[in-house]
Amino acid sequence: EKGGWDSFMEKEIHEDPTAVNDTLLGRFNQAGDIVLDEVRIEPDVFRSIDKIIVVACGTASYAGMVAKYAIEHWVRIPVEVELAHEFRYRDPILTPRTLVVAISQSGETMDTLMALRHAREQGSRVLAICNTQGSTIPRESDAVLYTHAGPEIAVASTKAFVAQIVAAYLLGLYLAQVKNTLFADEIHQIVAQLKAMPAKIQRVLDTQAGTVEATAKRLLDAHSFLFLGRHVGYPVAMEGALKLKEIAYTFTEGFAAGELKHGPIALVEAGEPVVVIVPSARGRDTLHNKVISGIEEVKARGAYTVAVAEEGDSDVGKYADVVFWRPECPTLLSPLVDVVPLQLLALDMARLKGYDVDKPRNLAKSVTVE
Ligand code: M6R
Repeated sequence: EKGGWDSFMEKEIHEDPTAVNDTLLGRFNQAGDIVLDEVRIEPDVFRSIDKIIVVACGTASYAGMVAKYAIEHWVRIPVEVELAHEFRYRDPILTPRTLVVAISQSGETMDTLMALRHAREQGSRVLAICNTQGSTIPRESDAVLYTHAGPEIAVASTKAFVAQIVAAYLLGLYLAQVKNTLFADEIHQIVAQLKAMPAKIQRVLDTQAGTVEATAKRLLDAHSFLFLGRHVGYPVAMEGALKLKEIAYTFTEGFAAGELKHGPIALVEAGEPVVVIVPSARGRDTLHNKVISGIEEVKARGAYTVAVAEEGDSDVGKYADVVFWRPECPTLLSPLVDVVPLQLLALDMARLKGYDVDKPRNLAKSVTVE
């Protein structure tokens, strides 16, 4: 059942490309227009949506954070991302024009379920992005967009995360299509770029696994890891930190790279690892330079620096002790590849420490109590 892999987590990480591919399948026509027939909300209703609130927990919430960058950019409506357990208790502003998007792999997370019930009671529509057919969250939602990642057994979520990003992006593109905030050509181009992602993820798996494993060995005795990223790299950093704490029981902190000098840099210690998600160097945009100078700063304080960077980035090597390379891809799609070496890093660290990677201590696959 593990298909020759040592653990479900290892198998599921290697299914990242298929999860992306299968979640895209059948969701656009020949021309590249988005077709979401299964989502039974009238286009007119979608057209009237003026705000999105994503409710989710853990990894699913980080997929929501990634989607916020894309959807706000494409659709020009505000997207809030709220941890489901916080949402209900803050008297959120919900109207019939608010679309609440509940993201959940299992479809059984009680915190997320309670949040969507609250949203519906307030008259908002709820769309579920879910990986489990017929589970409670889609059943109680107005509409559902399934991620087709296949069953995810390991407690640490991996392939579901990339599939959730794809599903949320399809929703964003669909909204852009009905609201006319992108030209058809732009949508077709993004669809083509999405279709190219499975091969890019596969390339990361094929070419970076050795470097990741050597890095895990080198860092096995580290006391704590810091993960930092900017823009879409920020939720990826959070996700990398969560994976490592969940299964390798390593103390980790993920944060926005811009926060470094507002506090976290005080944590940097000689020899301790800092993992940095580096945005594309193409055009040497300001974000790239700022993140590179972040690496420089932690390196100057003796940190062991690990970067996730785009192939051909000639700046990163100056300050990074090791680089996990990503193939060139548009910034908004980069989380789909950047998370892969971080999933592998957590797996390798846990495995090398002799832990049960599929069933980490204290955790359940779905959290069915509040
Ligand atoms: O089934 P869900 O997607 O609703 O689960 C949400 C979180 O409990 C889940 O992502 C959790 O954080 C994972 N163990 C992360 O690896």
